[in-house]
Amino acid sequence: MSHEKQPHQHSAHPHPAAPLTPYGNRPMVTPIVHAVNYEYLNFEVLRQITDGEVDGYTYHRDDNPTVRAVEKGIAALEHAEDCVVCTSGMAACTMVYLTYLRAGGHLLLFHDIYGAHYKVSLILERLGVEVTWVDAADWQELPKHIRPHTQMIFLETPSNPLCKTVDIAAIRKMADRVDARVVVDNTFATPYHQHPLELGAHLVVHSATKALGGHNDLMAGAIAGSKEDYDKLWFTRQAIGSTLDAYSASLLERGLKTFPLRAERMAENALAVAKHLARCPGISNLRYPGLKNDEGHRIAARQMKRGFGGIMAFDVGRTQEDAKRFISALKTIRHAVSLGSTESLICIPFLTTMLYMPPERRTAFGVRPNSVRLSVGVEPLGDLLADIDQALKAPRKGLRP
Ligand SMILES: Cc1ncc(COP(=O)(O)O)c(C=O)c1O
Repeated sequence: MSHEKQPHQHSAHPHPAAPLTPYGNRPMVTPIVHAVNYEYLNFEVLRQITDGEVDGYTYHRDDNPTVRAVEKGIAALEHAEDCVVCTSGMAACTMVYLTYLRAGGHLLLFHDIYGAHYKVSLILERLGVEVTWVDAADWQELPKHIRPHTQMIFLETPSNPLCKTVDIAAIRKMADRVDARVVVDNTFATPYHQHPLELGAHLVVHSATKALGGHNDLMAGAIAGSKEDYDKLWFTRQAIGSTLDAYSASLLERGLKTFPLRAERMAENALAVAKHLARCPGISNLRYPGLKNDEGHRIAARQMKRGFGGIMAFDVGRTQEDAKRFISALKTIRHAVSLGSTESLICIPFLTTMLYMPPERRTAFGVRPNSVRLSVGVEPLGDLLADIDQALKAPRKGLRP
């Protein structure tokens, strides 16, 4: 109902102006408006809001000023015309599927995306969407899998969890042959380093739970794109009721204020940690697009700027027990899922983020039982390197390089 009709204005800063107080001065922070509904001034105003003639708020599921402020902030970061924010990263991905896929259509997914997509793909298949999975390392083979009825190609670059790199512009050219949409999950890269819309993606999605929020204290998703896409996605969100609550939106707005600082530091720390790990005995199959010898480095250097993000993957020793001993010995780096936060987080994807997949699929694209995913935080670099060294020494007896 309450679409905002004024054109989106790009801003160099992700912080939108908060509404005016009755006295005309602006609070420094967008107020948390947790009202569910808003009083109509009169029936004419109701009509104007309903017809989209004036900006206005009527009901939280439709729109909320605190949420709207953060949407404008993320749109600015992604160089998008607009953005729809919702309750989680998976809600954002599912809203994209529900908005653009039709029964009888075909969805191309890379194995190397967040594991919960596997569950969503089962639901989509029940609704009549055909799904094909491709290894991100084979992205150049994609034309073999594109069909006349392919409606969407959904990818992550760097990918989850092995940080493989996919050429977004090349994928867009392939997609254009059948008019398919290219959707990029930019959670790993973050808009500090990568702008998928400028590289050819139609839409960008985020788990804003991760680096955009940045403090492990909120769950949110975001979809950025054109004004036309905003309208379509807004329709879906309003219909299914996945609107973010105002308190989480406020936390997210707070996270955005330090996002560039955190992203810069995470990437600096991560590059140094990756270089260090490359020299450590017992570590193999290290993947970080910032390393010059990484398979994806050439493409990543072209499509990412100011660094390569905070996430890497590597194998520890030879068995899962080796990886478990290493993780258990870490003190500064915390053993938890999620990523992109101030704290460095490490996990074994086989036992966590990929649990959603059948076991045989978990290894199909290069993830091993002893592979770990490390999300580097903003701690002092020396603390991180020392922690890795002591943890590698602690179980050295058991580590078979
Ligand atoms: C790359 C990526 N996309 C999407 C998601 C899903 O996000 P959420 O947990 O906010 O639903 C995750 C979660 O880890 C993720 O890592």
